[in-house]
Amino acid sequence: MLERAARLLASSRSAIAFTGAGISAESGVPTFRDRDGLWKNYKAEELATSEAFRKNPKLVWDFYRWRMRLILKARPNPAHYALAELERLGLLKAVITQNVDDLHREAGSRNVIELHGNIFRVRCTSCSYRENLKESDTLEEFLSMEGLPKCPECGSLLRPDVVWFGEPLPREALERAFELAERADLVLVIGTSGVVYPAAYIPYIVKENGGKVVEINVERSGITPIADVFIRGKAGEVLPRIVELVKEVVV
Ligand code: APR
Ligand code: ZN
Repeated sequence: MLERAARLLASSRSAIAFTGAGISAESGVPTFRDRDGLWKNYKAEELATSEAFRKNPKLVWDFYRWRMRLILKARPNPAHYALAELERLGLLKAVITQNVDDLHREAGSRNVIELHGNIFRVRCTSCSYRENLKESDTLEEFLSMEGLPKCPECGSLLRPDVVWFGEPLPREALERAFELAERADLVLVIGTSGVVYPAAYIPYIVKENGGKVVEINVERSGITPIADVFIRGKAGEVLPRIVELVKEVVV
């Protein structure tokens, strides 16, 4: 199976990757629907909806500050680095991710499309103010602050710049992702349960346009039924081996 995946990758002209929380599991970032996943221990509808935020912004900010601190301690794992290397080899056009942990960019991937936002970015609930706390180097100060963060421009409440259930995805990111999927001849689907839409359409769009679907997951997912190749295994172990096999073929 690994050889088949490597051959498909080596002969692809417009491969993309579509990733979910599973690619960051080996970095110590909890997934959502695994045994010890976030939604197994917390109520998503109380923490990741605009309704929850309206009702109890302190609870939601406590949850996101906890996740920011946890993700800040995480480092990219060999799976993230493997995708960055495929991009450097010219074999991967983009990484389309559902993750908000910024680990693809940290691993060196350049063309990353964040469908569900970025946990280190905040935005105002009223005006167009938006800030990436990592880039502005104000993350430590932000995390040490008690109380509810307010917009420096208009004084309204700030919120995490992530997509909550029932909210629209960032239009520009979604359009770019759909365009890439329509033109892709291969999609590497890594570490996603494939149950959250519209993100989960990405592999189906590739398939409908004649592209191949190669899935890496520790168990079957909602995408497995359309996978041309399904590799059961940990992304951090499988992906680097596929890249090694590809390098034997292309260089
Ligand atoms: N390697 C590969 N796959 C893994 C690994 C691993 N080491 N560990 C877990 N997985 C797989 C699980 O088997 C599961 O299929 O990763 C997947 C994680 O699924 P979810 O927890 O549902 O995460 P995801 O698919 O990214 O969720 C999509 O749902 O909660 C929302 O917005 C949130 O972006 C998230 C979206
Ligand atoms: Zn504002």
